[in-house]
Amino acid sequence: MKLKTLGEFIIDRQQDFPGSSGDLSRIISAIRLASKIVSQQVNKAGLAKHILGGAGTENIQGEAQQKLDVYADERFIEALNNRGNVCGIGSEENDDYIELNKEGKYIILMDPLDGSSNIDVNVSIGTIFSVYRRVSEVGKPVELRDFLQAGVKQVAAGYVLYGSSTMMVYTTGNGVNGFTYDPGIGVFFLSHPDMKFPDQGKVYSMNEGNFNKTSEGVREYIRYCQEVDKETGRPYTGRYIGSLVADFHRNLIKGGIYMYPATDSSPNGKLRLLYECNPLAFLTEQAGGRASDGEKRIMEIEPTHLHQRVPYFVGNTEMVQKVEEFIKNEK
Ligand code: AHG
Ligand code: MN
Ligand code: MN
Repeated sequence: MKLKTLGEFIIDRQQDFPGSSGDLSRIISAIRLASKIVSQQVNKAGLAKHILGGAGTENIQGEAQQKLDVYADERFIEALNNRGNVCGIGSEENDDYIELNKEGKYIILMDPLDGSSNIDVNVSIGTIFSVYRRVSEVGKPVELRDFLQAGVKQVAAGYVLYGSSTMMVYTTGNGVNGFTYDPGIGVFFLSHPDMKFPDQGKVYSMNEGNFNKTSEGVREYIRYCQEVDKETGRPYTGRYIGSLVADFHRNLIKGGIYMYPATDSSPNGKLRLLYECNPLAFLTEQAGGRASDGEKRIMEIEPTHLHQRVPYFVGNTEMVQKVEEFIKNEK
């Protein structure tokens, strides 16, 4: 088998864009480096007291921070800062955005550690990232408006999954490619070229503990997923890990829908538009799927604040359209 490393792939792709500055390649390389460091810590988390458990602090959203949330946040910021071409980073774990090199042309939005509740129980977790070109003037400090861009403006997005193996999956708007990490030699290899959602999805993923707290339209769709119907292959299979990256990755490979709808206690859902929903929406559309807030395309939403939340429905196009239909026709 002909093996291609992530490093080779990045160089190949750069050659597809003659005259490009290589900035984007440097950013992907920084993410690759940080993800190797985090991956190594994740793999020994059960033995490492400095990694397991709560950090004793809360993020701006009032969520308890885990030590690994903070650790991953620091490693990604450090690696990206070292490349010099990033002018600012917005992270789920920081109250405000961080200013980096004024001369940098790019900004990063990230969820450094997704699935925090799964760290201490040895279940898959991830990192989600998104890259935009700044809109403010190069050479001046980065501004809030650089971070509040609609998802359609993303130039790259992806995730790292720390699972039974560590994988990096990303897009620069030219398809989705997945790389599996070989920890023995410290190299990512292209293992999943040109990823696409399969034609038919059979998996639905939602925290069904929220069933009675969500809208009738969503409840109707869940009942539809559970209905017995030979022709459409229902009931679908219910799978929910509670780490968005892991649930998303499975659904991308096997075909399915992930939902985090509005609930009585979280009227905008739980997931964050800039750190979680937009990057996975970009990957989704590149893989032939759809990402919606139940009515409209996620990537067209004009963000109003950094930590904004949004109801989220993502996966196979027909499945997302179906739930949108139930929401629209809600009695
Ligand atoms: P994070 O760990 O970055 O705060 O994200 C957790 C998110 C997402 O990964 C997951 O799908 C969802 O929260 C789980 O929420 P529930 O526990 O409410 O199901
Ligand atoms: Mn998350
Ligand atoms: Mn997180």
